[in-house]
This record gives sequence, structure tokens and C-alpha cells, in this order.
Amino acid sequence: MGKRIIVTGGSGFLGTHLLRALVAEGYEVKNIDLRQSKEFDTVVADVQDKERMLVEITDAEAVFHLASLIEAGESVKEPQKFIDYNIDGTLSVLDAMKANGISTFLFSSSAAVYGEPIRVPIQEDDRTMPINPYGMTKLAMEALLSSYVQAHGFTGVALRYFNLYGPEEHHQPETHAIPRFIKQIYEGQEVTIWGNGQHQRDYIHISDIVDAHLKALKYAEVHPAGYHYFNLSTEKPSSVLDIVAAVESAMGKKAQVKHYPERPGDPLLLYADASKAHVELGWSAHVSLQNGVKEVVEYFVRYWEENGQNGN
Ligand SMILES: NC(=O)c1ccc[n+]([C@@H]2O[C@H](COP(=O)([O-])OP(=O)(O)OC[C@H]3O[C@@H](n4cnc5c(N)ncnc54)[C@H](O)[C@@H]3O)[C@@H](O)[C@H]2O)c1
Repeated sequence: MGKRIIVTGGSGFLGTHLLRALVAEGYEVKNIDLRQSKEFDTVVADVQDKERMLVEITDAEAVFHLASLIEAGESVKEPQKFIDYNIDGTLSVLDAMKANGISTFLFSSSAAVYGEPIRVPIQEDDRTMPINPYGMTKLAMEALLSSYVQAHGFTGVALRYFNLYGPEEHHQPETHAIPRFIKQIYEGQEVTIWGNGQHQRDYIHISDIVDAHLKALKYAEVHPAGYHYFNLSTEKPSSVLDIVAAVESAMGKKAQVKHYPERPGDPLLLYADASKAHVELGWSAHVSLQNGVKEVVEYFVRYWEENGQNGN
């Protein structure tokens, strides 16, 4: 068996893909999540449970901390819950690592740390001013990590990106545009677009994000005792209408698009500059929106044919 890696939140969308990739690379893995994974042995536990983390977070080279609440809209309604799960949960993982001599912590932060950017593409050292409690918790998780790097000699890596997509994405509820549009077009429902559909965002394929996590792990090995943060971006933002067109083309079916008034404070263009990740991690995104969306459409059509459409 290879080196052991602990993944928190490994029963989720990213976690499942990351665990598979780590196993393929020869790592031994341990998943800690609130819910059982369909595919991997899971320690079913809450990362906020400090006593339990002390017992479970042992004997590993590194921890990928993916356990998090992720719904920005929900965070506006329930900020305290996000503070508990995301910030307190992170503290409990870091403290268990410190107690048990594990010092490499890698995590999926978010481009939500920037809030409304002062320029686009956003660079890592641009202003961070989150516009919702979700982004605030991600920024606080980064600050907590960097303080453990300084105070306790940890090695920390934070990866910041916008919209992740790919096969096997089954969030409940699903608020992400690509899986929602696929379902709506497949079922012949109306596709809701706020404004004229020209708003551009960065959509990044799961295989590219998993690859960045593996590269970050290697990077941490050769850059110990430092705090490192990287934007991950395709640098090719796509509009809402581009996504609709990609789904239509992959499905061979027209969407019934309905435009609603633009939402206030919705920036026209939002994406990040990933030069630092290109240079330091040796990472770039490879999957085009067209190919990525085609793969996801094929996945969902197969999934619904096999399972019916009630699942998601
Ligand atoms: N999906 C995106 O577009 C996106 C973008 C940027 C960053 N991220 C980050 O990537 C990570 C993974 O996202 P995802 O899309 O796979 O989300 P997900 O909801 O599919 O997975 C998160 C997992 O964490 C688990 N979890 C939540 N709170 C927990 C707790 N207190 N204790 C133990 N387990 C807990 C959940 O059960 C779930 O399995 C998150 O940290 C998220 O903030 C996601």
C-alpha cells in the first residue's frame, strides 16, 4: 500500500472523483463524511466533532478537507450554520492534525473569497471581500490555515475556483446551472435565464479540478511549511447562452428559454487568472465546455434511463 491520505467530504461530488484518482495513483485513502459513500469505506462522522476527529485523523501524509456546506444562497439565510460547519469544522480538523503530527492540509477554497472583483481576470492578491457568508467562511478557512502554517509549521494549499461541473453531480437541491439546464431541457421544461444570458462565468470540469488537487499534493511535498493559494480557471469564460447551446447540441434538442429580469449586482464577467497555477503547479485546464457538457449530458441521459428521473 502507498502513503495514506485522509479526505473529508469524500462522499460528495468532488470527493468521489478525488478518492478514485488517489486510489489510481496508489494512495491508501480514508474518507470521513456525514454520509456513507456509495463507493468507498466511510467513517460516518461530523468534522465538528473534535473528540472523534482526534481519533480518526491519524496516520496520514496529508488531509484533503472538502467537507463543507456549499450553497451560497443558503448561507445568506443561515450564516451561523455555515460558521459552525465550515469554520469550526476546519478548526477541529486542523487541531486533530496538530495533535497527531499531520501537517499537510489541502482544501477546496472558492473564488467566492473575492466577492465583487476590482478587475477581471481576478489575480490571487486582488482584494478579498466576500459578498455572502459562504465566501466569508472560505476566506476564514484560508486565514485559519495560514495561521496554522505560521504558528505550527503546517503546509497549506488552498485552491480557488468558480463553477465545478462534471458527471455524477447530484447536489440536493441542485442549484448549479449545467445539471439544472440538462434536466430542464431533457424534460422539456422551461429554462430560466436572468437577464439576456450574456453573463459570463468560468465553468471548470471535474477532471481538471481533480488533476489540480493531485498536483497540489505533489507541490506541498516539495514546498513544506508554507501557505500556498492558487486560482484555478479555464480562462475561457462562457455565457449562460453558451451553456444552453452546448446542452442543445449534445442532446439534439432545443431549449425553451424564458428570460426574466436581470438580478441586481450580477457581474457581467467573472473569471480568474490562473497563471500562478500554470507556472507553479504545472497545471492547466484541458476540457472544453463543449466536450465536458457532452460527457455530462451522456451521463445524465444514461442515469435517468436506468434509474428513472426521481433520483435527481
Ligand atoms: N461545486 C462547486 O462548484 C465548488 C466550487 C468551488 C469550491 N467548491 C468546494 O469543493 C468542495 C466539495 O464540493 P462538492 O461540490 O463536492 O460538494 P458536495 O456537497 O457534493 O460534497 C461535500 C461533502 O461534505 C460533506 N460534509 C458537509 N459537512 C460535513 C461535516 N460537517 N462533516 C463531515 N462531512 C461533511 C457532505 O456530506 C458532502 O458529502 C467544497 O468544499 C466546496 O466548497 C465547490
